[in-house]
Amino acid sequence: MRILVTGGAGYVGSFAVRALSSAGHDVLVVDDLRQGHAASIPEIRLVEAEFGDRPRMEALLREHQAEAVMHFAGSTSVAESVRDPGLHYRNNTAGTIAMLEAMRDVGVRKLVFSSTAAVYGESAESPLSETARYAPTCAYGRSKLAIEWALADFAAAHGFSSCALRYFNAAGASEDGAFGEDHDPETHLIPIVFGAALGKRAHIEIYGDDYDTPDGTCVRDYVHVEDLAAAHVLAIEACDTPGQHRAFNVGSGTGSSVREVIETVGRIAARAVPTQSGARRPGDPATLVASAERLHTELGWVPKRDLEAIIASAWRWHQANPDGYGS
Ligand code: UFG
Repeated sequence: MRILVTGGAGYVGSFAVRALSSAGHDVLVVDDLRQGHAASIPEIRLVEAEFGDRPRMEALLREHQAEAVMHFAGSTSVAESVRDPGLHYRNNTAGTIAMLEAMRDVGVRKLVFSSTAAVYGESAESPLSETARYAPTCAYGRSKLAIEWALADFAAAHGFSSCALRYFNAAGASEDGAFGEDHDPETHLIPIVFGAALGKRAHIEIYGDDYDTPDGTCVRDYVHVEDLAAAHVLAIEACDTPGQHRAFNVGSGTGSSVREVIETVGRIAARAVPTQSGARRPGDPATLVASAERLHTELGWVPKRDLEAIIASAWRWHQANPDGYGS
């Protein structure tokens, strides 16, 4: 399939792009490179552009003769969305609507959309199925949920066929340690813990240890980025029914606390990890664990790697690339 991928030079996007390419798809990446790294997709055609620029997207969709779009680009930090909600609504919601209209006008109607466990927020259920109540605790989650609703409307009105993949916590690196996670600034737990283990940071600050969880720290569902990438290949190949929009959770089904992650990094890296207890981070729910049963039943997806494998691969990446893609 000829696929245009927005944000394909980002962390999850670059793993999906390499997986799509290995599966025989013809990929064009559109990325503004504000967060992405061209070095993460060395063999793939990359155009530097904004996905919300409707005329430009129309031209690129036509030029690539795209049959489908995979949409990763957007703002992803929960804390940033609490501080600056307008940024998230502008990028994630308004920008995506402009892109969907470009797709509609060019006649490209297949889409896989990067959504998030943040749409559930403080939902009472655990593990979370796709029918759990939406209770996003931040603008980031609401900006993504708005697009999920828009996709259902575009399916009904314009015959789009789409899947929203609700990621839990993407983590890990390629087996050989050549590709991995590199954000600036880094806000994600596992790379920050490695920073503390490697002496690049004085410590890791634990954002709250008084949550209603077994050890008081937040519980998340860490899913290996290669497993997440495999879900995208299945999802785009399953976008074959005009008028159908589906949402899928992508998580391992296992919850790990912040303290468990720190302990696992310390053990695998055989290093001490200095920690400090801090205040809760605004917008963080106590527990987010997926039931990925629907993705398994409908698309046959099975996660192959657990937290140990995630952290072992991340350790290889951090050792080989202490400065990320700039190493
Ligand atoms: N954490 C710390 N200290 C840090 C960084 C993180 O204690 O220095 C904690 C957070 O409070 C959270 C857990 O580690 O409990 C994981 O935090 P991340 O920032 O790595 O990930 P989030 O769970 O906040 O965010 C992820 C995705 C988002 C998505 C969100 C859903 O990165 O895109 O899950 O809530 F929206």
